[in-house]
Amino acid sequence: MSNNSNPVEVAVIRGDGIGIEVTDVTLSIVDKAVSLAGADAVSYAFIKAGAGYYRDTGQDIEEGGEERAGEADAIFLGAIGLPSIRSEDGTEISPHLRLRDRYQLYAGIRPVKAYPNAPQRLADPRAEAIDFVILRESTEGLFYSAAVHGRSEVIGDTEVRDTLRITRATTEKLHKFAFQLAQKRIARGKRGRVTCVDKANVFTSMAFFRSIFDEVKADFPDIETGYNYVDAQALDLVRRPWDFDVMVMENMFGDILSDLAGGLVGGMGMAACAEIGDDTGLFQPAHGSAPDIMGQDKANPLAAVLSGALMLDYLAEKCSQLELSKAAGLIERAVEMGFEQNRLRPMEFGGDMGTKAMHTTLKDLLGEAKASMDV
Ligand code: IPM
Ligand code: MG
Repeated sequence: MSNNSNPVEVAVIRGDGIGIEVTDVTLSIVDKAVSLAGADAVSYAFIKAGAGYYRDTGQDIEEGGEERAGEADAIFLGAIGLPSIRSEDGTEISPHLRLRDRYQLYAGIRPVKAYPNAPQRLADPRAEAIDFVILRESTEGLFYSAAVHGRSEVIGDTEVRDTLRITRATTEKLHKFAFQLAQKRIARGKRGRVTCVDKANVFTSMAFFRSIFDEVKADFPDIETGYNYVDAQALDLVRRPWDFDVMVMENMFGDILSDLAGGLVGGMGMAACAEIGDDTGLFQPAHGSAPDIMGQDKANPLAAVLSGALMLDYLAEKCSQLELSKAAGLIERAVEMGFEQNRLRPMEFGGDMGTKAMHTTLKDLLGEAKASMDV
């Protein structure tokens, strides 16, 4: 834990595939933004983990790595997993899910925003105004039974049962987080409406999820609310995504809808993600390790870089270092300016810029963002 005399420390797991490439870009951009903002440099503690590490050592994370990750002020993760490397039960290697569980990183924040000149997948011009957040519960729901936790009920070779778990304690915190997020968004000029996304028409667990939403909602009378069943929400995310602001939902629903949402504004290369618990936060691009393009200078680093901005905002509050919030603002502004001026053209969107070219331009844009904010 840092104070004014200790540097802010981030545990870094670069992971597999393009996770390594986009992490390197992110740390460089974070460092530059921090220095431009006049904050003290952030220090990094690198932790080895991932599918490649598992292939080489038989462990998915280095000895003591899980504990060390929790000792830092935040965790940054590139991407973990390689489809060719699997556990005996056929699932992929995922120490990340254990980190979510161990540090109870319940609040998965996945912002989705349309940028000018980035592909707009919907023909309707209102798609320009897409700007919402999927708040994905990230420790329980159906992921309570993720293979890495060993909680599946395997009945011989005839049946397997995976439990979907909803607890009052986590759900209360989650919904409260959703309403507070809406309040913060209102302060930034956004709509601040919270939609409870569930399947309360069919599952008792989901009716419970909704009833806790209603309890928490009573404490936030100023915030507009709505409800949607998850299947209808999938439809509405294609039909009228501009109508939504904060959507709060169970873990597996959030996993699925956040990929759909990433697609609306270009692709997974835009899908930033923060996973926040009571004591620490993990920041990662929500895309995978993309082994098909790894090592070819093709990856779009923006999801990772924008996750880096979310991390700086989190650290600013946690470590009481307000300049870090300024650094986050510089990164966000640089990305916005880059798209406005059509200077960020990732290959993911058919553009001509590989990871390195994106990195170089982002560094230039950071300087320009600083100059534009100083005047
Ligand atoms: C995500 C990813 C992870 C998840 C995988 C890599 C375990 O898809 O962050 O959305 O399923 O949560
Ligand atoms: Mg996912």
